Amino acid sequence: MPVTRFPPGQNAVEELMQHLVIGAGSAIAAAIIDQYLEAGDSVVAVSRSINSGAMATANGRLEWLQSDYSEESIQRICNRLRESALVFDRVFICNGILHNAHLAPEKRLEDVTTEQLTEVMQINAFQPINWVKHLKPVLRSKQHCILTAFSARIGSIGDNGRGGWYAYRASKAALNMLIKSAAIEYQRERRNVQFLLFHPGTTDTPLSKPFQRSVPPDKLFSPAFVAKQLLSIIDGLDRELSVHYLDWQNTAIEW
Ligand SMILES: NC(=O)c1ccc[n+]([C@@H]2O[C@H](COP(=O)([O-])OP(=O)(O)OC[C@H]3O[C@@H](n4cnc5c(N)ncnc54)[C@H](OP(=O)(O)O)[C@@H]3O)[C@@H](O)[C@H]2O)c1
Repeated sequence: MPVTRFPPGQNAVEELMQHLVIGAGSAIAAAIIDQYLEAGDSVVAVSRSINSGAMATANGRLEWLQSDYSEESIQRICNRLRESALVFDRVFICNGILHNAHLAPEKRLEDVTTEQLTEVMQINAFQPINWVKHLKPVLRSKQHCILTAFSARIGSIGDNGRGGWYAYRASKAALNMLIKSAAIEYQRERRNVQFLLFHPGTTDTPLSKPFQRSVPPDKLFSPAFVAKQLLSIIDGLDRELSVHYLDWQNTAIEW
């Protein structure tokens, strides 16, 4: 795991405000990073593979860390971030799968398998809560911080009128519950941290690619549009609530 710019005890970067983007290989994450870099901010990105091209053009304001998202790797990165004394005011957990080379969303109960449920749950719910667990010592400063986890409207139990897509639906509902519980606990020990479960709307990324045919062009968003909406929603987020579940229009979604 190459971490070169902020070795432990290096005072020069202490108190420097940073944004942390996990799952930085996501198309929406890339747009978030671009917009922060354009604004002159600094970003620490984490993904399965390092994007050296993005780092090369960021004038030293983008650090990229590699993770296989095992709990050991998550803990190692969080320990290193804690030692660096960097202060994060925005954290994004963007990871999520709907399909891959060997799985597709289930249309009927007969398609449901334990293997698919386990794999999708692992990536969409269990890995994010592991980040939230190990980030607690990192987010210890008094700095107000908003941690956004990418959820989906389909994770709403109240809004489920169509069924299907069992593993994805259940994983996002589980993510919502895990984050809500974590927000309650953080409120006791880290009142500076607020949580946002965010539904980006149907966005033109590899995740939605196979399902875009029935989406009207004006309802298929670009990653840049969604990132702009999200950054503006976060900047104006009501600080009274410890956790919000919002869509790209800043409208609350039924749990
Ligand atoms: N696009 C949409 O229409 C839509 C709608 C509702 C919700 N969302 C949510 O928005 C978030 C961002 O998705 P996107 O649309 O930008 O999709 P994307 O470009 O396909 O990005 C996929 C994301 O999932 C991670 N990922 C893929 N396979 C993984 C694995 N085996 N283990 C761990 N992580 C893995 C990637 O991590 P790396 O960085 O390590 O590659 C990346 O962060 C997701 O949580 C998704 O569920 C998207």
